[in-house]
Amino acid sequence: MDWSAAVLLVLVLLPPPPCAPDDRLVVGKTLSPGATIVSDGGGFALGFFSPANSTSSPANKLYLGIWYADVPTLTVVWVANRGTPATNTTSSTAPTLSLTNTSNLVLSDASGVVLWTTDVTGYSPAAAVLLDTGNLVIRSPNGTALWQSFEHPADSFLPGMRIGIAYGARAGERLVSWKAPGDPSPGRFAYGVDPDTALQLFLWNGTRPLMRDGPWTGYSVASRYQANASVFVYQAIVSTDQEIYLTYSLSDAAARARLVVTASGHYQLQGWNANSSAWAVLGDWPTWECNRYGHCGPNGYCDNTVDAPTCRCLDGFEPADAEAWAGGAFSRGCRRKEALRCADGFLPLPGMKSPDKFVRVANRTLEECAAECSSNCSCVAYAYANLSTTRTAGDATRCLVWAGDLIDTEKIIGGGVGSDTLHLRLAGSDAAVQGVRGKSNALRIALPTVLTSAILIITGIFLAWFKFNGKRRDNKKGNTQISLVSTSTSDELPEGSPAQDFELPFIKFEDIEAATHNFSEAYKIGQGGFGKVYKAILGGQEVAIKRLSKDSEQGTEEFRNEVILIAKLQHRNLVRLLGCSVEGAEKILIYEYLPNRSLDAILFDSSRKMSLDWPTRFNIIKGVARGLLYLHQDSRLTIVHRDLKAANVLLDAEMKPKIADFGMARIFNDNQKNANTRRVVGTYGYMAPEYAMEGVFSMKSDVYSFGVLILELVTGIRRSSLNKIKGFPNLTIYAWNMWKDGKGKDLADPSIMDTCSLDEVLLCSHMALLCAQENPDDRPLMSSVVLALENGSATLPTPNNPGHYGQGSGDKEQIRDRTDASMNSLTLTNIEGR
Ligand SMILES: *[C@@H]1O[C@H](CO)[C@@H](O)[C@H](O)[C@H]1NC(C)=O
Ligand SMILES: *[C@@H]1O[C@H](CO)[C@@H](O)[C@H](O)[C@H]1NC(C)=O
Ligand SMILES: *[C@@H]1O[C@H](CO)[C@@H](O)[C@H](O)[C@H]1NC(C)=O
Ligand SMILES: *[C@@H]1O[C@H](CO)[C@@H](O)[C@H](O)[C@H]1NC(C)=O
Ligand SMILES: *[C@@H]1O[C@H](CO)[C@@H](O)[C@H](O)[C@H]1NC(C)=O
Ligand SMILES: *[C@@H]1O[C@H](CO)[C@@H](O)[C@H](O)[C@H]1NC(C)=O
Ligand SMILES: *[C@@H]1O[C@H](CO)[C@@H](O)[C@H](O)[C@H]1NC(C)=O
Ligand SMILES: *[C@@H]1O[C@H](CO)[C@@H](O)[C@H](O)[C@H]1NC(C)=O
Ligand SMILES: *[C@@H]1O[C@H](CO)[C@@H](O)[C@H](O)[C@H]1NC(C)=O
Ligand SMILES: *[C@@H]1O[C@H](CO)[C@@H](O)[C@H](O)[C@H]1NC(C)=O
Repeated sequence: MDWSAAVLLVLVLLPPPPCAPDDRLVVGKTLSPGATIVSDGGGFALGFFSPANSTSSPANKLYLGIWYADVPTLTVVWVANRGTPATNTTSSTAPTLSLTNTSNLVLSDASGVVLWTTDVTGYSPAAAVLLDTGNLVIRSPNGTALWQSFEHPADSFLPGMRIGIAYGARAGERLVSWKAPGDPSPGRFAYGVDPDTALQLFLWNGTRPLMRDGPWTGYSVASRYQANASVFVYQAIVSTDQEIYLTYSLSDAAARARLVVTASGHYQLQGWNANSSAWAVLGDWPTWECNRYGHCGPNGYCDNTVDAPTCRCLDGFEPADAEAWAGGAFSRGCRRKEALRCADGFLPLPGMKSPDKFVRVANRTLEECAAECSSNCSCVAYAYANLSTTRTAGDATRCLVWAGDLIDTEKIIGGGVGSDTLHLRLAGSDAAVQGVRGKSNALRIALPTVLTSAILIITGIFLAWFKFNGKRRDNKKGNTQISLVSTSTSDELPEGSPAQDFELPFIKFEDIEAATHNFSEAYKIGQGGFGKVYKAILGGQEVAIKRLSKDSEQGTEEFRNEVILIAKLQHRNLVRLLGCSVEGAEKILIYEYLPNRSLDAILFDSSRKMSLDWPTRFNIIKGVARGLLYLHQDSRLTIVHRDLKAANVLLDAEMKPKIADFGMARIFNDNQKNANTRRVVGTYGYMAPEYAMEGVFSMKSDVYSFGVLILELVTGIRRSSLNKIKGFPNLTIYAWNMWKDGKGKDLADPSIMDTCSLDEVLLCSHMALLCAQENPDDRPLMSSVVLALENGSATLPTPNNPGHYGQGSGDKEQIRDRTDASMNSLTLTNIEGR
């Protein structure tokens, strides 16, 4: 049956059905003041509002907007009629919003005057749906977005939104502040891309720059910073054939946070603190005077590597007005100590935010770029980057040259991938020697180190964040920034610190004995080759106690491995290790207890699987993705799980997923991409072919397992069983064939049909097939997976052949069974009453 027809049928037959709540406006219905449209998950509302302090002019100015439905303080994130409020309204002269039969939203006042409208052309019986991301979308019946509010931003940048940097047809988008806190009309401050170069982002005050992020150096994903103890922000520049855009997501999708251009000219990250019932400012830019555009004057730079960032002169320069400079008036900047001669060479300055006012010379290699500047006596500096890893079309070289004064340069902490090596022409330096030095530096900086995601990238933001953080802590220690940069987050411990540094409670064996009544069968909830799992109360808390059997294969070394690894890793999508106990031959791990146990026990149980509706499954997919991203890229250690599967995904009371069991995780060295192992551990069906057959494992083998897991969640079918799946040897091949035949939507588990979102099902299936590709290099990194899942990227590549092995071979099936049994025993999950 056709999917949309099925949905339509449900809508007609069963009002109010699960998937037609009041999250949409359809043709023939109108929205009036007082009524709201609330998104499916209850996150956002669309309706009319009157700003709290509209003291100026009629107090009854009405605007159509979107705000957080679950935040008690009215916080408007989008306004339709910013410049054209409905005024002087009464109940009989109220404005209305309707969806026309030309698929346009039209806001008109009582006399029919149109205050605001969308600009969709063409006829189709569409619906306007408010999504739980805060995006208002006009959808055609086939699900295509005809218009979306995310493409017409107001002052707020929400997770998943895209700020266009370069579009085929569309100009760069900007966030524009409110005029005043109580006045949504467009204010003077804006944030967006520099239209002249499409290479850098600015915060503007009218037409004047207020703050600038340096020119793009080719980084893509991997920008991350920690907003507070529990929330990470991932920011990315995404480049496809059609467009380049800035987007971000939060590690906790439920967290309420937004980036906003305030009416007072700040770019802020604000997060809702439920405890204090107020918005907290988690980041604020520009943070320091020094970070303001051009604050240090011509040829000066802002040095962010010191506690209180301040202005300095570039090499070869001195303050133009020494007295004023010493008094903190930097605007006159710096002048050359010695005039340049044309033969002078270049001094490479790594770790810089390159100055503004550059000229981009097209199609140059690094050497040609250096020659370009060297051969032109008025060229004072150049900086080179290779954008080819991210820019898929067009000229991927980025040769910037400067003539005249250098404006708005900064020195960046840590010199991350967002920084340039600025080659500065310097009187008296030898061209040849410096040229060579410059080359090696630039090459190093130009290679985007996407894998080393501990380095934060949107440098302006980033720096300022550290500074901001430092300020709040009153700069207690002189080395604050260095330790922040090198260790990055409070929930991770520095590499190489000894095990006793972890604040991991060691619990007395006798206390555990007492809590479990001497390991009574009545307390047992699971068992396997590696030991038994008990549920008990310790210190007033329900915990899962994993007692490793004395003759288990998991030796002391593996045990230590697991303890140290899990203690270091804290993330909401990982099972938490609360403590451990080692006494004599007894090895015990104490974990948080998760009431809903393991995913496979629910997903593959025909009576219980109904409790996993589609939104829950989608959240599980996203949660596992985030947990895995954390293991792979964000925890500083690169950790490969090696046995990701439904049985190793535990569910908490709210059905949020947590990845269990890191017993096989291996720590990689920074320069090591994959490793070879003689002992293949894992679960057939989930194991990537290169791992199962050759013992080669890497992050990409986890990505493969994740792909299989997604397919299980989408289809509700076990990855492979002794019986073929609809005539195909296993789930991936079945899914791939369906996909190839354009029947992707038929993959959906019949029991999620009425909880809908075809888009999400197709996105997940598509992503699953990308993850399960045969060639590990074709599989995406988890950072890309998380971004695509959060943002619903419409531009995923076409998947290649899925990897598979051992199809139809009886021997292989036996190996699978054996391995399955042994691996399940590692987990808390092989629990009573399947
Ligand atoms: C507001 O409405 C009242 C009557 O409803 C009318 O007398 C008044 O002129 C209107 N004011 C404006 C500014 O339109
Ligand atoms: C669309 O609506 C307009 C007025 O609301 C009506 O005149 C027109 O016939 C409608 N068109 C279709 C195709 O329904
Ligand atoms: C979906 O519908 C729109 C207009 O209603 C059309 O332009 C588009 O091509 C359709 N897309 C698909 C995939 O059918
Ligand atoms: C509203 O007005 C009150 C009193 O004038 C003021 O304290 C408050 O900050 C204002 N709120 C906003 C959002 O402007
Ligand atoms: C923005 O520009 C105006 C006019 O130039 C100036 O008065 C104001 O102080 C500026 N605001 C900020 C935050 O820079
Ligand atoms: C961190 O910020 C998020 C987003 O505002 C908030 O939901 C969460 O409660 C905060 N957590 C802590 C520990 O402050
Ligand atoms: C909120 O308050 C509770 C107890 O009052 C506390 O445990 C929790 O850590 C607080 N959360 C935040 C984000 O401050
Ligand atoms: C770039 O330069 C090379 C030779 O230097 C030339 O072959 C190539 O066509 C140029 N590409 C573009 C896009 O100009
Ligand atoms: C840019 O980098 C890619 C691979 O990283 C390389 O193939 C290409 O030759 C480089 N281009 C230039 C102009 O250095
Ligand atoms: C030298 O550089 C200046 C400034 O970029 C530019 O205007 C001029 O055309 C260049 N001269 C040559 C010969 O390329």
